[in-house]
Order: sequence, then structure tokens, then C-alpha cells
Amino acid sequence: MQMRFEEHKSLKAYNTFGLEAFAKYFIEINNVKDLELVFKDPIYLSHQKLILGGGSNILFTKDFDGLAIKNNIKGIEITNANECIVKAGAGENWHEFVMFCIDKGLGGIENLSLIPGCVGASPMQNIGAYGVEIKDVFYELNAFNLTTGAIKTFSKEECEFGYRESVFKRKYKDRYLIVDVSFKLSEDHKLSTHYGAINDELKKMAIEKPNIKDVSNAVIAIRQSKLPDPKEIGNAGSFFKNPEVSAEKYKSLKKDFDALVAYPLENGNYKLAAGWLIEQSGLKGFEMNGAAVHNKQALVLVNKNNTTGQNIYQLSDYVLSKVFDKFGVQLEREVNII
Ligand code: FAD
Ligand code: EPU
Repeated sequence: MQMRFEEHKSLKAYNTFGLEAFAKYFIEINNVKDLELVFKDPIYLSHQKLILGGGSNILFTKDFDGLAIKNNIKGIEITNANECIVKAGAGENWHEFVMFCIDKGLGGIENLSLIPGCVGASPMQNIGAYGVEIKDVFYELNAFNLTTGAIKTFSKEECEFGYRESVFKRKYKDRYLIVDVSFKLSEDHKLSTHYGAINDELKKMAIEKPNIKDVSNAVIAIRQSKLPDPKEIGNAGSFFKNPEVSAEKYKSLKKDFDALVAYPLENGNYKLAAGWLIEQSGLKGFEMNGAAVHNKQALVLVNKNNTTGQNIYQLSDYVLSKVFDKFGVQLEREVNII
């Protein structure tokens, strides 16, 4: 059987910024067999590759002059019921996977409800929200080596997870296609409700003894109140990371800006709320050439008026320089730039 490559494929429907960009070649794979067939094709062998999940953490600033591979590998399986280990195909929708686990009474990822995208991308930047990161429940993953075609199993240690970081964004960038990911969940899970507004939201919902479904509902309500829905306005969630600064830098900023939002870290440094820094730089809601800083969450850049990826990138440059000028803090982009 031969795989059919599409040529000059519009990726507009494949990125949540809703940006127009074309891939020279495009193919959708549904299983490892598809991948093995694609792997032998001259088009595969002679082009650079871009793996696509839900496209919710990508900014296209230009066309992609290679082969875009849309990962559509499905399947969810409880591989070890005693240990509560659940394996999901990389092409499974993340939120639907979270809902599957909650329905089975398995706790651990309820705080990560409603994060867009696919399971396969979740280890890429160690997705996190409301005090939980996937590294907390990660068991292992299988990945296809794009050069050799061999499948390798990665343990948690080998993934080198950090804040919005993993080995796949660094030393193994563009080297692997993640095929499936396994998580170690729990039937007897200790809820994590300390972060942010979760407890307030549970109170609003009049819930005194929450279960995993209640926490998930609270997280969904909070997210819906401030994060823009990509179906309504193009975006990729937080465009920048929250920066880490030394205790010395934190103290000097705190002297000048009493309302500074910061969290102490175990290593003695502080993490600053980049959304606060951007808002205080006067940029919340700021618009430039159809690209804008979201008016409810300044860490999110949006495609407000059918703009281009270059315009969004330019706006991100502007935000970087304004924040640096005011606070002397260098923000770093979180979104993957093509
Ligand atoms: P894509 O955007 O398709 O890909 C992201 C990167 O991973 C690319 O470099 C791509 O090449 C690579 N990749 C994708 N799949 C694979 C694979 N199978 N194998 C190898 N490489 C792969 N993130 C958070 O961490 N926390 C949040 O709270 C959060 N909130 C968000 C809210 C909104 C409204 C939006 C739009 C985004 C948010 N994000 C958040 C960012 C995003 O949802 C996550 O980064 C998500 O994991 C991206 O998944 P994806 O399938 O869309 O990845
Ligand atoms: N804030 C402002 N103004 C803003 C935005 C935020 O002052 O416009 C301040 C608020 O004081 C708030 C604090 O910043 O208390 C933190 O804001 P929020 O709780 O909204 O979280 P965040 O730090 O802006 C991070 C993640 C999100 C994740 C939330 C919830 C990063 C880069 N972003 O945002 O992840 O959903 O926490 O845990 O770490 C993503 O990665 O795409 C993403 C959305």
C-alpha cells in the first residue's frame, strides 16, 4: 500500500491561531504501520519534518517547506489496572483523555482539564496548570526516531522535564515522533486545590467535599472565564513563559513595584507572573496590525483581525522590549515558532 501525500496543503485548520500557511507536503498517519510506510517514501527521506498535533502551541510565521505529519494515532487503554496505568495514543484529544480518566475514577490530571491539543504533545512542554504538571503523573512514552525508524521507550528521567520544558524541545528537538504516552494515575487520589482560584470556585459551586470531577469542573469554569476560546479568537494560550529571577532581582523589583506578583521557588529564586508584567507595561488589550494582547489575560496574544504570523511575532517582540525597558526582565516565548 502507498501513502498519499497532499501537496501545497493549507494549515489554516491545523493551528489554533487560525493563520494561513502552506506545507509543501502533508500526510495524516493513523498508526505506526502508516508511519513505517511513510518512512520509506522518497518524499519523507528528502524533506524536513514537522509533527502536528492540535496546533495549539505553534505560530506559523511562514510556509513550511517540508513534510507536515498530522499525528492521528488513537486508542486509550488501561494497561495495568492495579497500578492505574493508562496509555493513550498521541493523536487522542487531551481534554477527552482527561474526561475518560475522570469517568473511570482515576485522579491525577483533573487540574489539566480543558488544555487544548493532543496527548502526544503533552510531554513536549510538560503541560501544566493549577499546580499540576504532567511530569507529576508521567509513567513512560514511546517515540519513533524520525531518522532511524526505531521505536524507543522514554522513562520520566529521560524526558528531562522542567517548567514548560523537556528533552524533546532541546537535545532531541525534531528527532522523534511521540507515538503514545502512559500515565500513572490513582483511584485514591489526593486532590490539589491549593492553587489560584480553585478553592474559591468550589465555594461558589457550594461544594464542600470535592471529588476529581468537581475539581475538573472548577478548573474548566476558571479557564473559560479568562482564556480565549480558539474557536472564537485565534490564540495559542500563554505566548510567554513566567520568568524566573534571582532573589536579589526580586527584592529590587519589589521595592519599586509593591504589587509585583511573584512565587518563591525551592531553589531560592522567584517566578514572576509575566501577565502582570505585561499588563503593568500598559499592554493589556494593546493591538498592532491585527495582532493583540488579550484583554482578559495579558500573557495570551490573539489573532484579533485576520492578521499574519509575522505580525503576531512582531507584537511579541514589542512586548519583550516594553517589559524589558520597564522591569529589566527578559521574557522568553513559550510557543513554538515556525
Ligand atoms: P502542537 O501545537 O500541534 O505541537 C506543539 C509542539 O509539539 C510542536 O513543536 C510539534 O511539532 C510538537 N508535537 C506535537 N505532537 C507531537 C508528537 N506526537 N511527537 C513529537 N512532537 C510533537 N499549555 C499548558 O501547558 N498549560 C495550559 O494551561 C495551556 N492552556 C492553553 C490554553 C489555550 C486557549 C491554548 C490555545 C493553548 C494552551 N496551552 C496550554 C498550550 C497547548 O495547549 C499545549 O502546549 C498543548 O500540549 C499543545 O498540544 P498540540 O497537540 O496542539 O500541539
Ligand atoms: N496577571 C495579571 N494580569 C494579566 C494576567 C495575569 O496581573 O493579564 C496576574 C494575576 O495577578 C494572576 C497571576 O498573574 O494572579 C497569574 O495569572 P494566571 O493564574 O492566569 O496564570 P498565568 O501565570 O498567567 C499560567 C500558565 C497557564 C496556566 C495558568 C494556570 C504559563 C506560561 N502559563 O498562567 O498556562 O493555565 O498558569 O495554572 O505558565 C499555557 O501555558 O498556555 C497556559 C495557558
